[in-house]
Amino acid sequence: MTTTDPKTTIEPILVITALKRSFGRGERARPALCGVSLSVTPGEWVAVVGPSGCGKSTLLHLVGGLDTPDAGSIRIGGDEVTTLSAARRALLRRRRVGFVFQAYNLVPHLNAAANVELGLRVAGVGRRAAKARAAEVLDAVGLGDLLHALPATLSGGQQQRVAIARAIATRPDLVLADEPTGALDTAASRRVVELLREEHRRGQTLIMVTHDYAVAAAADRVIFLRDGQIIDERRPAGRRTSDASPTGPSGALDEADADETALHETADELADEDGGHGTRRAPGGSDLNDLLGLGSW
Ligand SMILES: Nc1ncnc2c1ncn2[C@@H]1O[C@H](COP(=O)(O)OP(=O)(O)OP(=O)(O)O)[C@@H](O)[C@H]1O
Ligand SMILES: [Mg+2]
Repeated sequence: MTTTDPKTTIEPILVITALKRSFGRGERARPALCGVSLSVTPGEWVAVVGPSGCGKSTLLHLVGGLDTPDAGSIRIGGDEVTTLSAARRALLRRRRVGFVFQAYNLVPHLNAAANVELGLRVAGVGRRAAKARAAEVLDAVGLGDLLHALPATLSGGQQQRVAIARAIATRPDLVLADEPTGALDTAASRRVVELLREEHRRGQTLIMVTHDYAVAAAADRVIFLRDGQIIDERRPAGRRTSDASPTGPSGALDEADADETALHETADELADEDGGHGTRRAPGGSDLNDLLGLGSW
């Protein structure tokens, strides 16, 4: 920890405090998030990893104002998201947040270019500028020759890249990406990581859920979520660090360097501590469920 780090003087773009969300009522209520606190500085790239059902999508939906928490606070650039009206939340999302959904959520009757243009137009970009920017971003994700293709005629991976293009096109304050490489083969996944890296270099703040440690290792910081709680965090080697990270109970590994291998090892250690589930190292695999022996969730 250093007090001379200039980033400590920068206001966080996102501050999440003691966030709770349960689903179901009464006896059937099941907690999805049980008190998550996290602070993200502008320009930071945060990866969130954890087994299926641990609350990753729930967290992203809450941050993006698509869902409301039972308790806790979410501030984006000083605005408290949780108490905004639905209309104001929609406005905030349109202006400040780009969302890549786990299920893409493309508009089926609009072609790839129109899907990206739509996001730009609702953010206030003029028609010609939106058209040019959509073509530019789709080209960057390797879909330059599929501008006029309808989503149904695209592969899952191609649809995912359209969704990513739509999210980053407006250069929002925050890009929230739920498994942005989940449906991609290695080459396409690498291309998406390169694209995110490029946006990150330009100062884009990114919060990304992933099961893939090769993808997570590209981030500045990797947050480990389990059973609705942040149980650890790592900073991949060579990434710049930030001190603004009040992230829950552990913090013991805060300053540890972590590359992809170290992330695997951390997952193994965490699984070891979790006697109930046992540990199974997936040879060559990078799926967190396999690594934690939770593949049957
Ligand atoms: N709309 C909902 N209604 C009821 N339960 C929900 C809802 N959304 C999420 N849950 C529950 O909350 C928990 C967390 O779900 P969430 O989708 O956040 O997991 P996740 O970590 O994103 O998993 P995955 O890696 O499979 O996408 C799960 O037990 C899930 O069943
Ligand atoms: Mg999910």
